[in-house]
Amino acid sequence: MAHPSEEKTVVLIKPDGVKRGLIGEIITRIEKRGLKIIALKMVWPTQEHIDKHYPAHDDWFRSIGERLTEFFKAQGLDAAKHFGTSDYIEMGKQTKGWLKNYLTEGPIVAMVIQGMHAISTVRKIVGSTYPAEALPGTIRGDFSVDAPTAANVDGRAVKNLIHASGNADEARNEVEHWFAPEEIHTYKRADEDIMF
Ligand code: PPS
Repeated sequence: MAHPSEEKTVVLIKPDGVKRGLIGEIITRIEKRGLKIIALKMVWPTQEHIDKHYPAHDDWFRSIGERLTEFFKAQGLDAAKHFGTSDYIEMGKQTKGWLKNYLTEGPIVAMVIQGMHAISTVRKIVGSTYPAEALPGTIRGDFSVDAPTAANVDGRAVKNLIHASGNADEARNEVEHWFAPEEIHTYKRADEDIMF
């Protein structure tokens, strides 16, 4: 296991974040917290690349379907009616199709972030998956408002500005998926010795 201060995670600034001019704001929030950018590039991904970025197993599809169904229910709405199925796995598969369209709408900024418990720390900075639920002070809570009850009904993915790896396995796979080893750099930030 890597030292907690050397944990790596992947952040993607999605096409809406890039087109809205939020690259600097997002990077600033990550850097200010004391996390280090060790790889960074702008790419316009293919559908195939995004297809491989997101998992393709039933548990993942099911968790997406379950989560969105709960959100619809809390709003007094029936997700099954809009998806044409009550099968969570099918809902997850439809959602992945929308995610492929969303992440290929324009260039994205891909980064590897390293630092103290980087995976969970970045997820806290980013905020809840659905912007409508994200708390003020988080990136999604300050700059976005979308919800699945609007997005999925309109046949598109929830616009939530950023992707951040969810756990250590995802982070490891995503670092390899987005970056060649020579694109990832080792250096010391000037404030590391003061911060931890
Ligand atoms: S998370 O943030 O990864 O824990 O969220 P999760 O629920 O596992 O969702 C995985 C990715 O699917 C996107 N997602 C959706 N897009 C559109 N519509 C709906 N209903 C929906 N539900 C989940 C979610 O944004 C995650 O993608 P990333 O790129 O990680 O944000």
